[in-house]
Parts: sequence; structure tokens; C-alpha cells
Amino acid sequence: MSSVLFVASEGLPFIKSGGLADVIGSLPKELVRKGDDARVIMPLYLKIVNQHKENLEKLCTFDVHSGNLHTVATIYTTVREGVTYYFVEHQGYFERGGLYGYDDDGERFAFFTKAVLEMLNQIDYFPDIVHCHDWHTGMLALMCKDHYANDERYQNMKHVMTIHNLAFQGNFSADLLYNCLGMDMKYYFDGTVRFHNGISYLKAGILFSDKVTTVSDTYAHEILTKEFGENMEGVLESRAWDLSGIVNGIDCDLWNPKTDSLLAKNYDVKSFVGGKKANKRALQEAMGLRVADDVLLIGMVSRLTWQKGVYLLVEKMYELMGQDVQLVILGTGETNIENEFKQIEYRFPRRAVYYCGYNEELAHQIYAGCDAFLMPSLFEPCGLSQLISMRYGTLPIVRETGGLKDTVIPYNQYTKEGTGFTFANFNADEMMNMIKYCIYVYYMQKEDWKTLVANAMKADVSWEASCRKYFELYDSMF
Ligand code: ADP
Ligand code: GLC
Repeated sequence: MSSVLFVASEGLPFIKSGGLADVIGSLPKELVRKGDDARVIMPLYLKIVNQHKENLEKLCTFDVHSGNLHTVATIYTTVREGVTYYFVEHQGYFERGGLYGYDDDGERFAFFTKAVLEMLNQIDYFPDIVHCHDWHTGMLALMCKDHYANDERYQNMKHVMTIHNLAFQGNFSADLLYNCLGMDMKYYFDGTVRFHNGISYLKAGILFSDKVTTVSDTYAHEILTKEFGENMEGVLESRAWDLSGIVNGIDCDLWNPKTDSLLAKNYDVKSFVGGKKANKRALQEAMGLRVADDVLLIGMVSRLTWQKGVYLLVEKMYELMGQDVQLVILGTGETNIENEFKQIEYRFPRRAVYYCGYNEELAHQIYAGCDAFLMPSLFEPCGLSQLISMRYGTLPIVRETGGLKDTVIPYNQYTKEGTGFTFANFNADEMMNMIKYCIYVYYMQKEDWKTLVANAMKADVSWEASCRKYFELYDSMF
């Protein structure tokens, strides 16, 4: 058993913009249940201030010096379900409308990194393992080795870097290395952290952590190739020995159709026929779709970006709407995709609806009320939406990439095995053919459909197995 500090830029139940927050909200909880000391640290964003600050306790305030950054950090804390959370307060850096996408993101997360390391000394807490997530925290292992080279307490800690999405690398101009990260330019000139003529936070994380993981086995292999490597494949290859994939689970307390208070009717694997019918009806009513039990309702809950394969859907939209289906889409992202979906809603009233925005409650209702869930991703490190939809008995239609390949078992009409529908190539015709096959099974093979729903609901999407793998990984470093 060990003590682990999770360092991340977002995490439930406090703040979420994507699947990273789900993982940070659930994995530490599971580790604690199994006897570990797991803690989490993240920035204190405006949204957390507005919703949670009253319940946070002020822990300490200290100076943060890193390069030309000379400022102050305050740490707040709270405990939820056995997990201790720390929040780094800096109004200038974090109390803004959004989370990322600002010109000074490099500086903001340089500050965050230094504040995290300084806090350890302030509260005299030195975990066995610092588990960093994504580029925002990529500089931590190097900064720890560089700034605290003579401090045993810092040097005894082991570092794990988990890549949730290689497409986001935290690439910034080289001067940040000296100005904000307080490190010698030698790391740039000798090529160590140099990337595309600047510096890359993620590259540093990959090179200086003791272990590197990503969130599915298939993605761990894919990122070593040119196709998926985002120009980082060579760097990853140099760490291939220490690189592994551990698939995500979901928070089965939060995502449970039997207890979910946001649903019109609760259900489990024994009562899904009536349960899903009631939820479908409620969703159709709420969204203005024609209320009908017997039409295939396809859902999508997603960031609307190229990664998620939404352009395939845009390409085939009219062909899809020519089928006997209803469509409900929830998501925000690229404006042109949002506009395409608004058009579809306009053209196919009561058959297609698009909710432009972020809506937790509606997400639950879509997972429960739909029959199928579309996720034709170009690449998908793990993907949580397909796991959630399986748990809610909504059959995923996915492309066989990354975690989608590892978690969705394709329907086999002979053995009746399967938890969804899968297609291999990133190609709109292939996707459409698989959707048509799904439509056929829904209308013509009704018993098989029910078997698949039961299979999907019984699939193990919990953290159980993956937690064990993280324990093994942590143990392997000592
Ligand atoms: P990614 O992290 O790449 O966006 P994942 O499938 O890992 O993809 O996780 C996405 C998470 O965010 C899921 O929990 C999904 O339900 C949620 N989500 C995505 N878009 C929205 C939205 N518009 N409203 C509510 N939840 C959303
Ligand atoms: C990233 C990936 C997604 C993964 C999530 C959590 O956002 O895009 O596939 O599920 O991180 O690991």
C-alpha cells in the first residue's frame, strides 16, 4: 500500500470539462476504498470558488518563486469519501470564465506546478508517488528533480505520468523554461524538452517520469506509430519499456441506472425493458421528439471536435435521417459542427434534436433513454461515454480505435455475444453500414437486441480490475 498524490487540472465532484475529470473523480476514491492514501490537487477555478468555497478549509499561504514568477499561493482543502483534496488559489491565474485556452496557459501551469511542489514542504507531506495527468502537470517531475535536487524528501518520490490525450501537449515558447519554470536553458539547447522549436510540457513528463501510462492498452500501442503519435512517437518509443496502458473505469455510484435520481424511472438488468421505455418516452417528451416506443433512438454526448469523428456523421446526416431513426445530440465545440447540427434539427423537426451546451442532467437522460449511442472517433485514448452507455443498456456504435476497441465487444449474430456495434476504418460509408446493421438488428432481431442490452449492462465497467493494475504499477517502482 502506498500514498499517492494525483496532480491534475480538473476533477469531479468539483470541476469537469471532459473525461479527465471523471477519472480524477473516481480512481482516487477506489484506491482509498482499497486502503491507499490517495489525495488530489488541482487549481481553484472560479466555478469551484462559486460553488464550493464555503465548504473548503484554508490550509496555508506561501511564496512561490520560479524564474521571474514571484507571487503567492494559498491552499484550501476538504475531504470527500476519504480522499483529501487540495486546491491552489491564485485569483489572477485561475479565477476566470473558463479552464484553459488562454495565452498564458504555460505560465499558469508553471505556477501551479511550483505551487504543488512547494506545498509538500509547507504541510510536510511527501507521498510515495506523484501521479501526474496530461500536459498541465508535465513539468512536475523535471522541476522536482531540478529545483529540489538536494532534498531527499523530494528525491525519494516516484513519478507517474498518465497521458489522457496525446493531441494536447502543452507546447510553448522556449523562454518559459527560464522565465516561468525557473530552469536552465540547457534543457532546451541540449534538446531535452525542445519540441517544434519551443518546449513541450508533455514531452518533459514523458521523459522524466518513472512510469508513463495511458488509458487503454490499444492506445498505448497506437501512440508509438506515426498515425497516432502526434510527432511524439519517437519520444514515447524511448520510454516504451516503461509505457503501459490501463483502461479507465467509471464511477459506478454516480452512473447507476438503478439509483440515478436524474432518471424518469430507475432500472437494472432485470427490469430494463420497462425502465428504458419510460426513460425514452420522458426524453422524447422533454426534447420535443415524436413520442414513440418503437423507433430506434440514437444518442450522442460529446465534445464536438474532429477527434470524436463528428465529421463522419455530418457527411452522412441526410442518409441517416432517411432511415427510420430519431437522433438526439448533446455537445459543444467547433462552431461549424454546431451549425450543421442546428440545421439538421431545423430540417427534421420532431426527429432530430440538438442541445448546444454542457448539461450533466441531460447527459444522464440521454444515456438512459436512447437505444444506441454513436461514437465514431478518429482516435479515442479510452472514452468513457461508451462505458456509461453500456451500463445504461444503450448499445454503443463505435470505431475500433483506442479504448473503444478494448471495451466494446462487437455483436456476433451466431454466438449472440457482444455489447455493441463496431467498425474498423475511419470512413463514413463504413460507419453508415454499421448503423444500418444496428437498425436491422433493432427492428428485425428483437430478441438479439435484448440479449445485447443485457450483455452490455452486465459488462464490467468498474475500476476493480484497473485499480489492481495501478497497484501493481505503483508497487513495481519500489
Ligand atoms: P473526452 O474526455 O475526450 O471528452 P470521454 O468519453 O472520456 O471523452 O469523456 C467525456 C465525458 O464528458 C463523459 O462523461 C460525457 O458524458 C461528458 N460530456 C461530454 N460532453 C458533454 C456535454 N455537452 N454535457 C454533459 N456531459 C458531457
Ligand atoms: C481524454 C480522452 C478520452 C479519455 C479521457 C479520460 O479526454 O480523449 O478518450 O476517456 O481523457 O482518460
